[in-house]
Amino acid sequence: MTATLLYWGPDDTRAARWQALFAARAPSITFRRSDDPGDAADVDYLLSWQPPDDILGRFPSLRAIFATSAGVDQFDLAAIPERVPVVRMFDPQIEAGVVEYASTAVLYLHREFDRYRHQQHTRAWMPHAPLPATARRVGILGLGSLGRAIARRLVTLGFEVLGWARSAHTLPGVACFQEEDGLARMLAVTDILICMLPLTEATRGMLDRSLFEQLPRGACLVNMGRGGHLVEADLSAALDDGILRGAVLDVLDSEPPAPDHPFWSDPRILLTPHIAAMTNPDTAFDVLMANIERDRKGEAMIGRVDRWRGY
Ligand code: GLV
Repeated sequence: MTATLLYWGPDDTRAARWQALFAARAPSITFRRSDDPGDAADVDYLLSWQPPDDILGRFPSLRAIFATSAGVDQFDLAAIPERVPVVRMFDPQIEAGVVEYASTAVLYLHREFDRYRHQQHTRAWMPHAPLPATARRVGILGLGSLGRAIARRLVTLGFEVLGWARSAHTLPGVACFQEEDGLARMLAVTDILICMLPLTEATRGMLDRSLFEQLPRGACLVNMGRGGHLVEADLSAALDDGILRGAVLDVLDSEPPAPDHPFWSDPRILLTPHIAAMTNPDTAFDVLMANIERDRKGEAMIGRVDRWRGY
């Protein structure tokens, strides 16, 4: 199979990693990089975190755009011609990463490490009786493949797991909720809420005061979706008012946050710099190649974005 793939991105190290993989494992594919893109007219595939503007004008032969990420909210789908499929990355390493991150965050909050960290700073040696995992209810917003993988792991850790999605799901050991009324019912019985939603116009700003107020008082939040899901001022106010106890955030609206952003110094918030999961070219390569082969055979690619839904 011959084809030309253009890697579009500013990170030299990652570009070099992909280049080495193509050279070793798919030499029949011509690999190009954005620092030396060659003739744009013969590019079949783009591989990118964020593709360039004017796709149609620049790349008339483009067959597909592969995101290097699981989320595609950074893409302006309206600017990409409909005939060019956009495909999300289903790297098994991303799944492993988000499952680890969610388990760590849930265990941190469940075992009240946030509270003990504060006690350490105030030199207070004060044990609190731990709650069994079976008594802690963890609700997951978003039951796509990553949300479902998190749910499975949390079930094995012994938590009472709940999940919400717009559409109906059935998952062993997980209480599944759907649509607006299902959301309210799940929130009412969720002690730790994990956001794994895609960022769309329907979900932007969803983690706001009115949602926090539907949780039991003193619940916790883990945001692994996108910063745009969270109304940041509402989180600070909900923590001040005791509506929420703590939060673990891997994503923020503006990354990195400004030096004077209040979250940096808020002991109730654990911040990580968008590291829950990162695509690993070594494992993502096979996923990408399998999709290119599917495209060449005229078969449907795995992870194709539904433009109407936006994910
Ligand atoms: C990371 O945030 C991703 O979408 O893969």
